[in-house]
Amino acid sequence: MTQKITEATEVVLGRYYLVPTVLGRWSGYSARSWPIIGPRHNDRHCLNFEWDHYHLDARFFPFAYPDSDHQAWKGVMSMPLMTSERMNPTGLSAVVWKRLKCRRTKNPVQDMLVEAVSTAKQWQCLVDDFAGRQALHDGRGWVCPHRKVPLAGQPVEDGVIICPLHLLRIDAETGKVLGSAAQCRGGVAA
Ligand code: FES
Repeated sequence: MTQKITEATEVVLGRYYLVPTVLGRWSGYSARSWPIIGPRHNDRHCLNFEWDHYHLDARFFPFAYPDSDHQAWKGVMSMPLMTSERMNPTGLSAVVWKRLKCRRTKNPVQDMLVEAVSTAKQWQCLVDDFAGRQALHDGRGWVCPHRKVPLAGQPVEDGVIICPLHLLRIDAETGKVLGSAAQCRGGVAA
């Protein structure tokens, strides 16, 4: 039986998982089903993004952009599937679970984006709100306290998990929120 991605404690390249998808228009593409991660939300507070949206899950993204196509991957990471006056103004479909192949374990430009937002004021707001908080454990792994995203299937690097949505850092051992990767690399938060 195919495992739900939200129940995986380890995500294996090339393996198939049941992945939540939402039908809608994204970027310049016409309507199709996109793999999403995390709940529908907006980021009016801190990140100054008022539109309701889902984040795309790069691990199951349908197009075979090479990892070196930084522009494309930046778009996947920073442009959510959203409802706005211009994009999906009548709303988005309900979530449908589909069997999809894991094509990568994280967004290839996650580290680059971390650097890029290191001086952004709205990210400092997010860090100020969450640094030092204790993440909850759902029995499989830590759950990001920002939008309650299960992090069990995310890679651990140097003892830290970086939430793929807004880059908060979680200590893989203790579940303590350390601050965003951006802030830590800038030496601001620990
Ligand atoms: S959901 Fe926003 S940082 Fe995790």
